[in-house]
Amino acid sequence: MSKQPNLIIEPLRKNHNRVAFSCGTDELDNYFRRQASQDTKRRIARIFVVRSESDDEAVLGFYTLSALSIDLSVLPSDLAKKLPKHPIPAALIGRLAVSSESQSTGIGKILLADAIQRTLAVSDEIAVYAMVVDALNSEAEGFYMSFGFTKLSSDTNRLFLPLKSF
Ligand SMILES: CC(C)(COP(=O)(O)OP(=O)(O)OC[C@H]1O[C@@H](n2cnc3c(N)ncnc32)[C@H](O)[C@@H]1OP(=O)(O)O)[C@@H](O)C(=O)NCCC(=O)NCCS
Repeated sequence: MSKQPNLIIEPLRKNHNRVAFSCGTDELDNYFRRQASQDTKRRIARIFVVRSESDDEAVLGFYTLSALSIDLSVLPSDLAKKLPKHPIPAALIGRLAVSSESQSTGIGKILLADAIQRTLAVSDEIAVYAMVVDALNSEAEGFYMSFGFTKLSSDTNRLFLPLKSF
């Protein structure tokens, strides 16, 4: 469990109020309400939730974290030529959302930093070359780009950030 001032980030559990969560994007809300706990049980994704210290049910935001491998062909050629010619290990933030009433208060940034920190923590034991994110729309793309993520290849909504920068 990681803790920010007044905020707690912890794995999704039963008493988090998933039904009440709304970020204004149906796809993300529906995922969180209907599929998130299944994905956890099946080890498809780990889901981390941020809440305030004083309320252990209301969810202010969440993100999902999974392992994936990326094909060298989707990396920019200047990076690809320095890497071995086989799939590259990465960590995927498949979804990240902040509740409508908590947006633009810095929580998205805190969640992203938490995902990177957790990945760095395991990367001493399981190598991870980069963080990868799936941006749902151009707004989300702008959010990730403001943290240094760049597009993986022009025909996907995937962005990446090599962990060597940390
Ligand atoms: C996109 C989203 C995750 C951002 O989270 P947030 O909590 O509102 O963002 P923050 O307040 O942490 O903003 C952090 C920084 O990113 C910047 N930022 C936020 N949205 C941005 C955008 N669209 N383009 C560029 N920068 C952006 C902020 O200006 C801020 O910069 P600063 O620290 O220099 O002021 C959130 O608005 C959200 O959940 N939106 C709806 C669902 C969605 O689109 N999720 C992404 C799907 S992958």
